[in-house]
Amino acid sequence: AEIIIVRDPDEAGAIAADEIVRLIRANPRAVLGLATGSTPLPVYEALRPRVAGLDVSRVRGFALDEYVGLDPAHPESYRSVISREVVEPLGLDPALVRVPDGSLDGIEHAGDDYERAITEAGGVDLQLLGIGTDGHIGFNEPGSSFASLTRVKTLTEQTREDNARFFDRVDDVPRHCITQGLGTIMRARHLVLLAFGEGKAEAVAGAVEGAVTASLPGSAIQLHPHATVLVDEAAASRLA
Ligand code: F6R
Repeated sequence: AEIIIVRDPDEAGAIAADEIVRLIRANPRAVLGLATGSTPLPVYEALRPRVAGLDVSRVRGFALDEYVGLDPAHPESYRSVISREVVEPLGLDPALVRVPDGSLDGIEHAGDDYERAITEAGGVDLQLLGIGTDGHIGFNEPGSSFASLTRVKTLTEQTREDNARFFDRVDDVPRHCITQGLGTIMRARHLVLLAFGEGKAEAVAGAVEGAVTASLPGSAIQLHPHATVLVDEAAASRLA
């Protein structure tokens, strides 16, 4: 992977946003792979002024993951987060931006449906990624197969605790998610992984320089021909 050490999250956001704008200029029907959580927010922030005057009406998007069994209208469902942070501020067409369907009704075919939709769109051009403190990308927790496709997974206690900040209590964090698999993510044509802060240093070092292993799902990016890693000094502090 190409590793770029940035001053702060805003600089990373600007670099990733410039790349996304280049992509949309080259292809107004570009397919963006969207992430949620705190990490990609500076990218979405940096995109706002950059898309003014750009025709984004045909841009397509696929989110990485969703909680299972959480009301889609809940403010912390990834459907809500993607609407609030990406679709509305950037003026994308909501019909062209998909999030895996985490509702219990039909969950058994939701993964296959999502895979089909990504394939029919021609695949993801640029996939934004954060990384969990336990090394997950998407919600592919340690032990996930490198060949995995979109499916239901159980969140680790670590991830539920990490995400408790978005909910009133840790008990409110859903136990299951539906996530693109590592195999799905690896098919994107360009991976852009971002990580900020000391808490991510271990996971970043493992992902970028450690053994390629299912125990650290982020290490799959070492097998990708076009991966960019944008990290601040703190997140880069354990790199050799
Ligand atoms: C979010 C996702 C996760 C997060 C990761 C880091 O769609 O798939 O892999 O990127 O949990 O979360 P933050 O950015 O909140 O530290």
